[in-house]
Amino acid sequence: MKVQELKHSGLKKWVEDAVALMAPDAVEVCDGTKAEYDRMIQITIDAGLATKLNEKLLPNCYLFRSDPTDVARVENRTFIASKSKDDAGPTNNWEDPAVLKKSMTELYKGSMKERTMYVIPFSMGPVGSDIAKIGVEITDSPYVVANMHIMARVGTKVLDVLGSDGFYVPCYHSVGKPLASGEKDNGKWPCAPLDKKYISHFPETREIWSYGSGYGGNALLGKKCLALRIASVLARDEGWLAEHMLILKLTNPSGEVKYITGAFPSACGKTNLAMLIPTLPGWKVETVGDDIAWMKPGKDGRLYAINPEAGFFGVAPGTNNESNKNAMETIKSNTIYTNVALTEDKNVWWEGIGYDAPGKLIDWNGNPWTQDKANKDQPPAAHPNSRFTGPAKQCPAIAGEWEDPKGVPISAFLFGGRRPKTIPLVNQAKSWIHGVFMGSIVGSEVTAAALDVKAGTIRRDPFAMLPFCGYHMGDYFKHWINLGEKHGDALPKIFFVNWFRKNDEGKFIWPGYGENSRVLAWIFDRCDGKGKCVDTPIGILPTADAIPRPAGVSEADMKEILNVDIEGWKKEIADVRQNHYPKFGDKLPKELYAELDAIEKRLGV
Ligand code: GTP
Ligand code: SPV
Ligand code: MN
Repeated sequence: MKVQELKHSGLKKWVEDAVALMAPDAVEVCDGTKAEYDRMIQITIDAGLATKLNEKLLPNCYLFRSDPTDVARVENRTFIASKSKDDAGPTNNWEDPAVLKKSMTELYKGSMKERTMYVIPFSMGPVGSDIAKIGVEITDSPYVVANMHIMARVGTKVLDVLGSDGFYVPCYHSVGKPLASGEKDNGKWPCAPLDKKYISHFPETREIWSYGSGYGGNALLGKKCLALRIASVLARDEGWLAEHMLILKLTNPSGEVKYITGAFPSACGKTNLAMLIPTLPGWKVETVGDDIAWMKPGKDGRLYAINPEAGFFGVAPGTNNESNKNAMETIKSNTIYTNVALTEDKNVWWEGIGYDAPGKLIDWNGNPWTQDKANKDQPPAAHPNSRFTGPAKQCPAIAGEWEDPKGVPISAFLFGGRRPKTIPLVNQAKSWIHGVFMGSIVGSEVTAAALDVKAGTIRRDPFAMLPFCGYHMGDYFKHWINLGEKHGDALPKIFFVNWFRKNDEGKFIWPGYGENSRVLAWIFDRCDGKGKCVDTPIGILPTADAIPRPAGVSEADMKEILNVDIEGWKKEIADVRQNHYPKFGDKLPKELYAELDAIEKRLGV
């Protein structure tokens, strides 16, 4: 479709202005068809950017290798450009919107030379649903178009819903690598240098401007940029929640169903938990979403969640038939792989795929790589943040209601992170406000999901939203408190989980993955006021025998991971008092300071 044919005059003008600024060679409005997807892939193959994988083993699957400066989100190049700095808060990078637009406009000038501009109308959430939001992304990356086909609902059907004057979030995207006449990418992933990358959000005008990166959440703008950073602002204004959460359906052996969401920081186990195959007999987990939940209060005051996405952009390393069989099945066809290793027979391989690397591989940098198990320092063949983009509907565990526009009623919220010590396996909040307090102080070891944060160190990542909240986090905490005051008992119960406790040898004590079903079962029962538990200074914990022990976990192990480490918690809370809460200044709700006082008292500080 041509730009001239766009019925929405505001959209047409916006695209025309972008064309004048970015000077692409051609412009195309995406229709969302399979033919279009195939054409995008062919363009990337011709440019030397994609490899077709073995059609017998992985039908319609392709491998891409990105640039080493473009392998993950870049948090220090991500901006919340609200009018006032105070609205962005202490956890976001702020720039004045007028100043930022001025400098980015300079970068966008001619940035699409000798490339095609693709205009992607997309819907986050089922097309036409009341909860869904429409965005339009313009991009010069056919890789982005193909990924958006999988991750969102795209094309003409979205324009039909948008009509001639509907609301959409305008999203600029350019990889920031204009070509000279006759120049081709020729196998080199196009992007701009790190200090020229910008992932910018304008919360008041609901706009997104991304420049210089072609990877993941930096470039697929429906995901973190729209469905979290901009949507969190809409949710604050309209009284709902946009969260970095998986959504799962849990059925107990009697056939009773509860829906649970879980917020864990990037690369801390959302995809895995969403698709878990329970080891506990009779229990069943089905997937509604693996990364983002939008939740609105229903007439009954309960929160109803939808998954705004249509695909999974999941971490490859560690994914295997034991840890996540459902993901492995999902990504057997029609999947885009980025930065994993390639085998000689054009299959994919990554660390933790469940078997040794077969023969000579090509690593994520495009270099020959042969596994050397004696060399503990061998660099990995797949980048630690290498990912698959696979269609959600291909997941064998996908819940029948995953696209229900009404959403699913949530019974429990889980929060967690990677904590080798102190934080127990599971802990139920004593009340909503206690849960909000605990959510506001969650810490986790940093993973490879962001390029510029040192992996391995522990940082506080409140509600797993640190990189994704589009406004002041103190106001965000208050938004959660307000919700509790408004909807009270109808709201989900709040739990904290930690699958990542390590022993003195540095080994995980809890086997995780499918065995996490044991914890889910306890949580299910607690939602009904059942399940053996004990009230402690930090929250409500299972008794030592409440959760049946999996193989390999001794009684002593169980005791250790359910222990309330009073000294450890005193340190934790002291850090909150001295370093974490003061960051939020006046905006830290007084209710949370009251909770801080209360837990100090219970711990005997
Ligand atoms: P994002 O897509 O970045 O938001 O990540 P995510 O939260 O969906 O994380 P994901 O499920 O992809 O897991 C990331 C890594 O953690 C993978 O390497 C998993 O194998 C590993 N992991 C997931 N669940 C568990 C668990 O229960 N125990 C242990 N030890 N590792 C886990
Ligand atoms: C995350 O980092 O939480 C992701 C990957 O889900 S990305 O979409 O790149 O943000
Ligand atoms: Mn995520």
